[in-house]
Amino acid sequence: MNFIGIDLGTSNTVVSFKKGEKVETILFDDGSRLLPSVVSVTKNKTLLIGNSALSKKKSNPENTFFSTKRFIGRRSSNVKLKEYAQLPYKVDVSQELVGLYSSNLKKRFEIHEIAAQILIKVKESAEKYIGTNVDKCVISVPAYFDNNQRIATKQAAEIAGLEVISLVNEPTAALLAFLNEGSYQGNYIVFDLGGGTFDISLIEADIDIEKKSFFEVKATKGDSKLGGDDFNYLILQHFVEEIKKKLPNTKFDEKLLSYLREESEKLKKQLSVEEYVEVDLQNLPQKNKSVLDLQMTFTRKDFENICSDLFSKIKNLIKKFINENISVDEISNVILVGGSSRMKKFAEIVKELTNKEPLVSLNPDEIVSYGCCQYALIRENKEPSTFISDVTPLSLGTGIIDDVNSVIIPANSAVPCSRTEVYTTVYDNQEAIDVDVFQGERQIASENILLGNFELRGIEKAERGVPNIEITFTIDLDGILHCEAEDVKTKSKKSIFISNSFEISKEEISLLREEALKFFNSDKEFVNNSLIKRYSAELKPYRNQSSVAELLKISNNYLEGISNINISKEKLINKLQEKLFQNQKKL
Ligand SMILES: Nc1ncnc2c1ncn2[C@@H]1O[C@H](COP(=O)(O)OP(=O)(O)OP(=O)(O)O)[C@@H](O)[C@H]1O
Ligand SMILES: [Mg+2]
Repeated sequence: MNFIGIDLGTSNTVVSFKKGEKVETILFDDGSRLLPSVVSVTKNKTLLIGNSALSKKKSNPENTFFSTKRFIGRRSSNVKLKEYAQLPYKVDVSQELVGLYSSNLKKRFEIHEIAAQILIKVKESAEKYIGTNVDKCVISVPAYFDNNQRIATKQAAEIAGLEVISLVNEPTAALLAFLNEGSYQGNYIVFDLGGGTFDISLIEADIDIEKKSFFEVKATKGDSKLGGDDFNYLILQHFVEEIKKKLPNTKFDEKLLSYLREESEKLKKQLSVEEYVEVDLQNLPQKNKSVLDLQMTFTRKDFENICSDLFSKIKNLIKKFINENISVDEISNVILVGGSSRMKKFAEIVKELTNKEPLVSLNPDEIVSYGCCQYALIRENKEPSTFISDVTPLSLGTGIIDDVNSVIIPANSAVPCSRTEVYTTVYDNQEAIDVDVFQGERQIASENILLGNFELRGIEKAERGVPNIEITFTIDLDGILHCEAEDVKTKSKKSIFISNSFEISKEEISLLREEALKFFNSDKEFVNNSLIKRYSAELKPYRNQSSVAELLKISNNYLEGISNINISKEKLINKLQEKLFQNQKKL
């Protein structure tokens, strides 16, 4: 029984396995360690995967699918036109989940079927390289991937004949990669700048290969639309401007743009090593049907100036992340991951803002897949002394009466985790309750994202407020959410496994957090008002003894003292009644 660790990246896939005491990266049949995450369908209907597919990007653009990880497991209704309008292949949003259309096959593909093709190639190549059967794996996913995206990734592996021991978040995998490298204690920041995304994660770790190891991901932030591709694009734009200036009769067609795209990436990579590069653009087609060449020179400084907006964006993100989460002198070390972290300016920015030299003992392309392999070992119980914990980016809660949100698992809670809150009924002899599961930071339940709902029946027949109903939310090691409600007395139970959640991109997470802040005061007022309104109705019997105005005043004073509303409102009413009694006694 053999397992592999797979970093299924947007641009490239990397695979590692345990060889003796070491973790090693497999070489694909062309001798490369990186398999481009690209699938192409040829005219004669065969599938090409990896470099052979990448080389068809120019000649068979409609049937060559790249960067598909951006769409895996996502609902069509949540994908914006601008996310796919520029792509040369057809993204099909006519069904519930996003798919792709191949004109050569006249067939729609589900995105996870494309990922499955990459994983089939991965399994074959790993078996060939290692020389044994491979049937299990750990796959890394971005920390912000939601349930659907995780489930779709698992489905892809299943199609490829790989049992998924577990999924692991990419930043966690990055730190795990250092398990064999010695002892690490403290606060680590992982910066992962890949082809399409930039992720920052703060992890508290106590790694000692001789002893018990512990990891906790304290915070994550990032930009899912900032990566190496954006740098290529700015260089491409610069090339186009220069050509227009120097050779104004140049005819720009798709073929020329593809050539310039390749040259842009080449220049960017060279400037990570060299200070100075000469670019020789050849055979630029002219309107009079001739071709011309153009030579240009670039220093690393020129490149940094062309891309200064992107570097500023990166700088601001890192600054904000540090400000929000840690003081610079508490950072123990930093780890740079992803191909784009090789850009010298990136490393400089990280060093300037963290005051740390990054750990460089491992190759930034291979770190995540190494970590997946380490995680497979842990999950296969060969190293049972390691504990890992990630965080959930947004709060998970349930709506209680009057649309008030009651948080069960707060944002940034370490996962895996399980929390229970106790709720009760609103009406006498109420036998069923609806449990809505919300994700988000707003105090008004319906302003958050509804992930799912279910009904618990068979509640004890009793006066309102008497039954105790426990609602438990559990996030497992794969980041998948299970919700359960149980009447403590009748033992009646109902649970759901949420498989239809909306995907949450990092932008959406920031937006939801910003909105929650913006609406904090008005939400609080809404919650207070609806609670007060209900109390004044609930407390009718006492009106003779105290005017409504007085009741409201007392309610208000009471609510002022409650900093969070993370308890069921019915309990709140009971408490308020007690409080009112006390006050009335005093009066
Ligand atoms: N030497 C280099 N200098 C600058 N950029 C580089 C270098 N080598 C690779 N890159 C860039 O790294 C990017 C690919 O990185 P990587 O393989 O880590 O991405 P990925 O993991 O597939 O994507 P993501 O993490 O966004 O899902 C490409 O944009 C590539 O141009
Ligand atoms: Mg990556």
